[in-house]
Amino acid sequence: MGGEIALKRLHLKLGAGAMKYQTGFLNHFSSEAVPGALPIGRNSPQRAPFGLYAEQFSTTAFTAPRAENRRSWLYRLRPATAHGRFAAYAGAPGLTAAIPPVTSPNRLRWDPLAPAAPATDFVDGLAAWAGNEGITLHLYAASASMRARALQFSDGELLIVPQSGALLVVTELGRMDVAPGHIALIPRGLRFRVELLDDAASGYVCENHGAPFRLPDLGPIGANGLAAPRDFEIPEAWFEDVEEPCELVQKFQGKLWSAMLDHSPFDVAAWHGNSAPCRYDLARFNTLGSVSFDHPDPSIFTVLTSPSDTPGTANCDFVIFPPRWQVAEDTFRPPWFHRNTMSEFMGLIRGSYDAKEGGGFAPGGASLHNQMNGHGPDVAATARAMTADLAPVKLEDTLAFMFESNRVIRPSDAALAAPGLQDDYDDCWQGFPKAKLP
Ligand SMILES: [Fe+2]
Repeated sequence: MGGEIALKRLHLKLGAGAMKYQTGFLNHFSSEAVPGALPIGRNSPQRAPFGLYAEQFSTTAFTAPRAENRRSWLYRLRPATAHGRFAAYAGAPGLTAAIPPVTSPNRLRWDPLAPAAPATDFVDGLAAWAGNEGITLHLYAASASMRARALQFSDGELLIVPQSGALLVVTELGRMDVAPGHIALIPRGLRFRVELLDDAASGYVCENHGAPFRLPDLGPIGANGLAAPRDFEIPEAWFEDVEEPCELVQKFQGKLWSAMLDHSPFDVAAWHGNSAPCRYDLARFNTLGSVSFDHPDPSIFTVLTSPSDTPGTANCDFVIFPPRWQVAEDTFRPPWFHRNTMSEFMGLIRGSYDAKEGGGFAPGGASLHNQMNGHGPDVAATARAMTADLAPVKLEDTLAFMFESNRVIRPSDAALAAPGLQDDYDDCWQGFPKAKLP
């Protein structure tokens, strides 16, 4: 597995045990990098241990219901307020590429991004690719670690999906190594930087402007299945005491802003709470499927969901198509042809996707199928599926995913002008032999 190899390389670089994690999605954690740094029994004593500054970090309203409420308390060398005035930031134009208010109904597909030019870090390597009022979807290609700068996304939480190259994500609450096959979640507004653990890195990012991602309800599935809370890993407190200038780049209302600090913002010696970054190994997803007939609706593969105000209708679902057995009898086994009210942006982490045999959907590439516009298997995949021997088959070496949204997903100007935009995508659905009635 590519992810395991990447993690072994990481542990060689950082030393075994360099990363320390707690487990459990949305648990209430307590973590201190310095023994005694965490106040006991209260959040904001007159003088916190060692003179640390107590600071609440809230990613829901104070008055959100208890089950929804997310906040952490941070104990740091200096408060997060200690920076200069923000000024408009002229760099990283890809990150703020315009997303026009109206788009065509066309089904679109893109080749992977070209490798990043030398000295391109995660900030400069991000490209806004598509979005709507609830999500902005980015691709990234980077060739260098972020140095002396930090990022803050005030417009939404980030779901990072690496496709190539392992990342070291340094956040205010601790560090996470995130290899392809893993995902990382970074709460809205948390400061972070991305270092590369390989020569280059690329992947996908969902910037979620809506309700924070959570695990989906399981309904009749029961208490177990899909992604288990215990498999989400949350970093232990980690800090650096660095008295050097650091540029803080903030995305706020869709624009970029920059301010200077005279010290590292990663100076939190202890924290407690439930608003925290986490990582998750997609190989731990307990994939369920049909053991009788018919292909289930792809919602059976939902890892995380950001609900909207309409029950059962997500602002964004993060759905994966991992290796799995296909055993359904008398069944057209690939994803069926369909038109639906949700809009779907797909990516491929590795291998190939079973609905497309004609090539064109490559790891690192992307496709977009918007609401009520038909899509499904290509001609080659359809012909094979309609004549296949339906013995049990294991789909190996595949990991595709989808960001599915209740609003139309509009490509950015940059995505529409990208050299990798395939102008022949519709051709994969041309040439179906006509059904013959008796
Ligand atoms: Fe679909």
